[in-house]
Amino acid sequence: MYNLLKGKRGIITGALDENSIAWKVAEKAHEEGATFVLTNAPIAMRMGEINVLAQKTGSQIIPADATNVDELTNLFTQAQEILGGKIDFVLHSIGMSVNIRKKIPYTESNYDYFMKGIDVSALSLHKMLAVAKKMDAIAEGGSVVALTYMAAQRTYPFYTDMADIKAMLESIARSFGYHYGIEKRVRINTVSQSPTKTTAGTGIKGFGDFYDFANSIAPLGNADAESCADYCVTLFSDLTRMVTMQNLFHDGGYSSTGVSNEVMERLGIESKSE
Ligand SMILES: NC(=O)c1ccc[n+]([C@@H]2O[C@H](COP(=O)([O-])OP(=O)(O)OC[C@H]3O[C@@H](n4cnc5c(N)ncnc54)[C@H](O)[C@@H]3O)[C@@H](O)[C@H]2O)c1
Repeated sequence: MYNLLKGKRGIITGALDENSIAWKVAEKAHEEGATFVLTNAPIAMRMGEINVLAQKTGSQIIPADATNVDELTNLFTQAQEILGGKIDFVLHSIGMSVNIRKKIPYTESNYDYFMKGIDVSALSLHKMLAVAKKMDAIAEGGSVVALTYMAAQRTYPFYTDMADIKAMLESIARSFGYHYGIEKRVRINTVSQSPTKTTAGTGIKGFGDFYDFANSIAPLGNADAESCADYCVTLFSDLTRMVTMQNLFHDGGYSSTGVSNEVMERLGIESKSE
């Protein structure tokens, strides 16, 4: 361990179970010396698994629905009280689409569900940042990371409305990153992660096949949740203090690869280069 986050205070959203990307981030942040609070929607805590993580990392849990400004205000107030000062890092690891859950095709999206998805998965970042800024709850030079997916740039038909929602999330990170950067040097970035076997990930139709496809395109293979957590930790650390307003691909090289020999061979197309 490198003590990269020694003395830093954080808020980590979205740890549902041990497969969650946020779960791994919490474990890594703890190993790197951070103290933090965990938060999730009250309904997600019924399963109680988050208590195991809290115990393991010596953290307290503050329930908050990320669409509710009052609950977010309470989150930032309590987090500062518990941790004894302003917040140095925030992980936004929140995603949910009712259209995906109900397997509704993109062109037939239900608009109430669409609005819900926007509120939970994109506007929640704006709300968190707006609450934090109003309260001046994030320390100068603090770092906020939100998780996203490449469907914001390229079409993946099965990702339906979440593609548009992730595009909005990434835009909010840039726009807010400007204002918060000028005022407090607070950094805001999105990490665009490989397909990962979590509750949110595997809920997407055809996820298994797509996971294998992405894995055979990426020169390094799919990035797993643990390596994503390592990357997030570097973004929370002072080593990346000049990185802001970026969408950063963490995908084993997938986003820069047109096609791989492995996929060509699977399709029965002979590669003449070898
Ligand atoms: N799994 C993947 O393939 C993948 C790939 C790229 C990006 N991501 C993104 O990573 C993030 C984390 O997802 P994950 O894959 O770890 O799955 P996950 O299901 O473990 O985490 C999603 C979390 O969002 C929380 N959440 C939902 N509604 C909420 C609300 N109203 N308020 C507060 N929290 C709420 C859930 O309780 C859950 O903890 C999401 O933004 C997701 O889109 C996932």
